[in-house]
Amino acid sequence: MRVGVLTGGGDCPGLNAVIRAVVLKGVNQHGWDVVGFRNGWQGPLTGDVRTLSTDDVEPILTRGGTILGSSRTNPYAVDDGPARIASVLAEQRIDALIAIGGEDTLGVAHRLGKEGIDVVGVPKTIDNDLGATDYTFGFDTAVHIATEAIDRLHTTAESHHRALVVEVMGRHAGWIALHSGMAGGASAILVPERQFSVDQVVTWVERRFHREYAPIIVVAEGALPEGGAEVLQNGEKDAFGHVRLGGVGSWLADEIATRTGKESRAVVLGHTQRGGTPTAYDRVLATRFGLQAVDAVADGEFDVMVALRGVGVERIGLADAVDVLKTVPEERLAEAEVFFG
Ligand code: F6P
Repeated sequence: MRVGVLTGGGDCPGLNAVIRAVVLKGVNQHGWDVVGFRNGWQGPLTGDVRTLSTDDVEPILTRGGTILGSSRTNPYAVDDGPARIASVLAEQRIDALIAIGGEDTLGVAHRLGKEGIDVVGVPKTIDNDLGATDYTFGFDTAVHIATEAIDRLHTTAESHHRALVVEVMGRHAGWIALHSGMAGGASAILVPERQFSVDQVVTWVERRFHREYAPIIVVAEGALPEGGAEVLQNGEKDAFGHVRLGGVGSWLADEIATRTGKESRAVVLGHTQRGGTPTAYDRVLATRFGLQAVDAVADGEFDVMVALRGVGVERIGLADAVDVLKTVPEERLAEAEVFFG
């Protein structure tokens, strides 16, 4: 049997741990040939492929990023994209494909599955916003990185009596903001799920200064002020139609400075949240997902995705996998709010 693997969408700590698990179990236990397609769906579109030996993957467990490269290529936005993929897979004698990605990559996997290509999906996103799985790997690492940054920002904010606004990733869901903000003792956590009142933020900031502490506000990149619009870096869209968010932190820092008269600064954590070595939790989750994806292929069960449910890894239909966005529920925000101001 010959199995292909690819990684699509934004990179994420733990991708290499999945690839390693797929290759080691596929080769050592099943005697498969495993090949990697480079740069997401670009690889199977163009035939950009490399063999993956056990030697290639032994050292990559702790390495961030993906040895296969990634892209946001959408084969359905390319002329004859799906047909080109089918012909490359036939040329390469690929029996099954393991696609590791978020909603876009897995959405393509599902559509290709309906056209007869045998695909198993592995979910990944630092945003942790896929409804079908309790957790995605990469999220824990991103939260650790953001929390460490917030810990450091507290001391410099205190020294300068400044408000610091920390902008973290989270396009439609504020999980990174919520967890890092709670772990880091933020004075406010602003998420895309609930529009925020600038007046309320100013009240929290002033209350915090009044107690002679410097406020740290954690804001997800997709958070919106009441009646406002998402802050975009520019008008560009990617192949899946997503705009580039970014800038709400600096907008809010200016508002806070104007309204309170206190110095305010914005810190954008950006891609540091996606880089570097995965945490132990993410390495284990990614490895378990890789092992279970191999089992699905071995069982001949396709158009499925592996998912964490409680402490077990299960298989669910790819159609359900990408359907539901997992957003932060009100009750989690209410818990966090106890500590605001
Ligand atoms: O992986 C998802 C994500 O982290 C979003 O939160 C963010 O908007 C996006 O990636 C940015 O990715 P890029 O800069 O690679 O397009």
